[in-house]
Amino acid sequence: MRIISIYNFGKVVNEVICTMYVCICHAVTEKQVRQAVSDGAVDVKTLKQKLGVGSECGRCIQATLEVIQSQMDKEPCYYEVA
Ligand code: FES
Repeated sequence: MRIISIYNFGKVVNEVICTMYVCICHAVTEKQVRQAVSDGAVDVKTLKQKLGVGSECGRCIQATLEVIQSQMDKEPCYYEVA
């Protein structure tokens, strides 16, 4: 967790920035998983290769699947069928 101060119309506003870790073993954050999904890593196998998620104890796999689904709901992938 990080607290930043923002000046907004002459007032100082403190804002708390939270970082959620999806994978503790490899210190992978939700933001990193979302970015990887946006870059095309849409399954756990690819994320495991790219970020190491799920390659140690495996407790993060369910959370990773939820982040993948959430990100794909935001940015659906469309495949063109020839
Ligand atoms: S928490 Fe991700 S492999 Fe252990």
